[in-house]
Amino acid sequence: MLKLVYAPDPILKKECQPLAQVDDHHRTLIKEMYEVMYDANGVGLAAPQVGLDMRIFIVDAAAREEKKTPITMINPKIISIEDDLVPYEEGCLSFPEHFAEIDRPDKLKIEYIDENNKKKILSTDGFNSRIIQHELDHLNGILFVDHLSRLKRDVIIRKMKKFKKEEKIVIACGKFMDLNNQIMMAVKRRAWWSNYVWAGAAATGIFIGYWLWKGTGSEN
Ligand code: NI
Repeated sequence: MLKLVYAPDPILKKECQPLAQVDDHHRTLIKEMYEVMYDANGVGLAAPQVGLDMRIFIVDAAAREEKKTPITMINPKIISIEDDLVPYEEGCLSFPEHFAEIDRPDKLKIEYIDENNKKKILSTDGFNSRIIQHELDHLNGILFVDHLSRLKRDVIIRKMKKFKKEEKIVIACGKFMDLNNQIMMAVKRRAWWSNYVWAGAAATGIFIGYWLWKGTGSEN
C-alpha cells in the first residue's frame, strides 16, 4: 500500500520522469493513489507524494462530495495559461494542517494522456485549474511553499521537521506496544520462547538487585 510522503523529503524536490506507456502496473498504482487521496480527504495527489518518480497526478474537485469527478493526468503539458493572477488559500497532503494564500492564473488549457494511453485536452478554470497547477508543480519538484516568501516558507518547513520527528516517535511507541502485546500473548499461550522472556526478566531482576545491593554496600 502506498503511503503519503511528508515534506521535507528529497522525492518532493525531484523533477519526475515521463511515462513511455501506461500499463497495468501503473493502473494499479493510480488506483492506490485514489485510495490514499480520498482517505486523506484531499482533492489532488501527485505521484512523488507517494514516493513515485513518475509524471502522474490525480485530481478530484468533488472529492469531498458524494458524486466524484476523478481525473487522472499522465505526462501533462500546459498548452496555454492566462497571465492574470488570482489569490486562493492552498493546502497540500504533504503539509498536513498548513495553508497559505497563493497567487496563480485562473484559466488554463492542458494536454495529457489518460490511464488508457488516450491523448486528451482539457480547458478549465476556478478550483479545478487551481488543483491542476498545484499538482503539476509537484511533478517539477515545486511545492506550494516555494511560492511564498523565504521567511514564511522557513517557518512552515521548521514546523514540518518537528511534525515528522514527533510522527517517528509515535510510530516507534506503536511498534514497542505491538511487541509488548505479542510477548504478553505468547506468555498467555505459553509459547516455547516465552520461557526465555521469563528467564531474561528474572536475570535482569537478579542483576538489578545485585547492583543495588552492591551500591548500598560500598556507601557504608
Ligand atoms: Ni500538494
